[in-house]
Amino acid sequence: MSKTIVVTGTATGMGRAIVKKFAAEGWNVVATVRKEADLTVHDELERVRTLLLDVDDEQAAGSFAQTAVEQFGQVDVLVNNAGFYQMGPVEVSSMDQIHRQFQTNVFGLIALSRAFLPIFRAQRSGTIINISSLTAEQGYPYSAVYAASKAAVAALSEGMSLEVAAFGIAVKAVLPGQHSTRIFTKIDIAQDVPADYQAGIDAFFSKNAPTGSDPSITADVVYRAAVDGDNTKVRYYSAPDSAAIPRAKQILGTDGYWAEFRNAVLAKPSPLFTALIPAPGEQPIDWQIS
Ligand SMILES: NC(=O)c1ccc[n+]([C@@H]2O[C@H](COP(=O)([O-])OP(=O)(O)OC[C@H]3O[C@@H](n4cnc5c(N)ncnc54)[C@H](OP(=O)(O)O)[C@@H]3O)[C@@H](O)[C@H]2O)c1
Repeated sequence: MSKTIVVTGTATGMGRAIVKKFAAEGWNVVATVRKEADLTVHDELERVRTLLLDVDDEQAAGSFAQTAVEQFGQVDVLVNNAGFYQMGPVEVSSMDQIHRQFQTNVFGLIALSRAFLPIFRAQRSGTIINISSLTAEQGYPYSAVYAASKAAVAALSEGMSLEVAAFGIAVKAVLPGQHSTRIFTKIDIAQDVPADYQAGIDAFFSKNAPTGSDPSITADVVYRAAVDGDNTKVRYYSAPDSAAIPRAKQILGTDGYWAEFRNAVLAKPSPLFTALIPAPGEQPIDWQIS
């Protein structure tokens, strides 16, 4: 019998690529979008049912989980992918913006996971795959709130994986590097940024343009996380700029890595750092190792 996966936030980007990958591998897919106009985005794919869900709506999570199960009779994997990017110095990101960032990237994800856990616990199987980010490993400036939300997702995944291991449930976090998606066209930007910050912002973004890997790279890693049968592994690094981090930390040590990263942001990357951490989109031969 085909397995069934639920994926949130699938109108564009990685969510859409994940739907495509699992459908191509013969899975049933319950894909969610939040706009009625996007309900037809997967129409060309067989065995994909597209449902409306705004993950900010915590009250909707329970009934959505039941509806998702009814589509194909069982759910085997939940991918919490929906998310967005809040940008700007913490000092001038409004508390409303900061709450919204955590509402979607963290609280919505927790609410949906809580809705599926009783179902997975009853069936003694199930995998939750949370889309975190390489920013969970190192806080970027002017994206510190976003990074904090993704670090929360990674830590949550580790803690939850230990809580539910005895029930045959796996919880994993995929940490993608930078990808070329529409997330960068929908940024929630802080307003009224004091001029004091401008030089730092200009310097940072001149070195960190929003380009990156193809979303299919992360779709392949999510697929691996879903089928590898390893319920002990939590962190999956996806794309070269993220996959290189664990190895760089191993070589440099945690403090040494931070010193290099800090220098790369505030001054310029050392030749060592550039050799260890590829630019987004670059693909060294052995990036798949971690
Ligand atoms: N792109 C990167 O470099 C990168 C790197 C690391 C991690 N990530 C993470 O990867 C995930 C996918 O992002 P992406 O890059 O593929 O961007 P994307 O193309 O903008 O996709 C994000 C999806 O999430 C949906 N979404 C946002 N808020 C939602 C909500 N409240 N309820 C339901 N759906 C919601 C969006 O819906 P709409 O189309 O309606 O806006 C969109 O379909 C996100 O969690 C992101 O933080 C991205």
